[in-house]
Amino acid sequence: MCGIIGRVGDGNALEPLLTGLENLEYRGYDSAGVAVQNGSGIDVQKRSGKVDELKASIGDTPLEGEVGIGHTRWSTHGPPTDANAHPHTDGTKDVAVVHNGIIENYAELKAWLADHGHEFTSDTDTEVIPHLIQFYLDDGMGNEAAFRRAIGDLEGSYAVTAMLSGEHVLYAARQGSPLVVGMEDGEYFLASDVPAFLEYTDSVVYLEDGDVVIVDDDGVEFTDLEGNPVARESETIEWDPEQAGKGEYDHFMLKEIHEQPTSLTQALEGRIDPENGRIALSDFEPGTFADVESVQLLACGTSYHAALYGSLALNQAGIQSTALLANEYSVSAPPIDDETLVIAVTQSGETADTLSALRQANAAGATTVTVTNVVGSTAAREADETLFIRAGPEIGVAATKTFSSQAVMLLLLGQCIAADHHGEPPADLETLLPALATMPDAIDGLLETSEADAIAEQYAHSQSYFFIGRGLGFSVALEGALKFKEITYEHAEGFASGELKHGPLALVTPDTPVFAVFTGEEDEKTLKNAEEAQTRGAPVVAVCPDDHRAVDVADEHLSIPETAPDLAGLLANVQLQLVSYHAADLLDRPIDKPRNLAKSVTVE
Ligand code: F6R
Repeated sequence: MCGIIGRVGDGNALEPLLTGLENLEYRGYDSAGVAVQNGSGIDVQKRSGKVDELKASIGDTPLEGEVGIGHTRWSTHGPPTDANAHPHTDGTKDVAVVHNGIIENYAELKAWLADHGHEFTSDTDTEVIPHLIQFYLDDGMGNEAAFRRAIGDLEGSYAVTAMLSGEHVLYAARQGSPLVVGMEDGEYFLASDVPAFLEYTDSVVYLEDGDVVIVDDDGVEFTDLEGNPVARESETIEWDPEQAGKGEYDHFMLKEIHEQPTSLTQALEGRIDPENGRIALSDFEPGTFADVESVQLLACGTSYHAALYGSLALNQAGIQSTALLANEYSVSAPPIDDETLVIAVTQSGETADTLSALRQANAAGATTVTVTNVVGSTAAREADETLFIRAGPEIGVAATKTFSSQAVMLLLLGQCIAADHHGEPPADLETLLPALATMPDAIDGLLETSEADAIAEQYAHSQSYFFIGRGLGFSVALEGALKFKEITYEHAEGFASGELKHGPLALVTPDTPVFAVFTGEEDEKTLKNAEEAQTRGAPVVAVCPDDHRAVDVADEHLSIPETAPDLAGLLANVQLQLVSYHAADLLDRPIDKPRNLAKSVTVE
């Protein structure tokens, strides 16, 4: 959730560090800081608040130095104060450290260091790391040995980058939190995510758990904790900095909503075999899933809604399937056997809850697949197989394009599983494939003609917002409500439309608009449920094709193009994303960075 940047090279490090922090702010943003080496030690500037506030505090007296580290923080231990912001030092100008993750044994280490005379100035777990390094330096170890020894003392999850006074070197270690190295001639970067340094280089190496790297002017040494060399391959990132920026849009979220035609085209690229009209997930040999009897999909938040979408489609294709909240899995996992396939659905591939559930499933002997957007992510590496959704970087904290790409990839994967299981492609493949091929154009058309802004304006000052749907439309209703609440800060709830009359109807008033999603699954019943709310005074907004009967009944209409039943919900979801976006904009919310939320939640 926090963001790390480190840089070694010629010229002043401050500018690439601050650029990196700005590019990383989406990961967490309650405080920020930088530290650079100068002739007389390490200078640190840090404070609570956003990177802009850090920049203002640096002002006219910029820090000078060619090597530096920086950090944006999303609090885990201790409130967002100047003292708790990173980088942390050992109290001298000798050692500075930035860290993501959680040091589980920090209290024990802190007590032990305090017994040895170390004084602490923050509430963080991180602060024990520079003190440990200093302890081993005082004990006579060299810089590298002291760093390795300190890392060896840590229990928990971490991505750590450290800088020691007097040398042009950064030391870094990864265990359970992402860390990536960027390499350009004579300039090297360490970061928790690629966009941090994409302006400077597109050549990257994703580190693995247990890696320790030493970065100096001559290059990068990849080793394990003991110092044995490890081979790590570099990759070229194909998105450019422009793509990682906002482009012509006011917010990343709006840009990412508009990117869905492209992200879906990328997701589908080469995955449908036009020759014989089959799905060809080259990621899996035909027959891979022949023995699968049941499927569990594990995920959190928006990814859970995509998992729910995928699991309903699997059930409809005759495969027993359940979507489960990853954070409940440790206490409620259904039985697993050799014929259970477990699919972790996670945009970032780093969500701690999902990783923990995936590890549990791996340990129980399930075959595991990760569906993710991030190549090199932990979930991608820990599952038996991975299916990449290829949505490109998603910067807005609220997931948009990754939801539609996840749902589509789960539909394709579901079709493959069903085909392997039944020995023949499912019957609805004939309607699904042409509809998938036209999906990017359908979304393009919807984006051009959407009246979601007018609907948002009409209802922007309501008391509560309800979203209802049935079948696949139910997962879209849940997602519509989640998106609405997280970026507008207004109360919103999603219900299965048939549930309204079992309780939620008591909340319905003329001040609670109901968005009803019609996906062709028993729409008559959904319409009846919407009318029950309308009778109690609630305005109904129907999300459906133009010639749908609901258009005549509802107070307002958001149009979706005709498509296959499996895809109607995804088109409806784009309209709901736009409603949330415009409502949040009218309310002047910080859309890309909603309060209290982070893009990647790497703690359980
Ligand atoms: C909401 C949102 C979150 C994430 C959730 C899981 O817009 O983005 O609910 O979906 O934190 O994240 P990933 O998909 O990275 O596992």
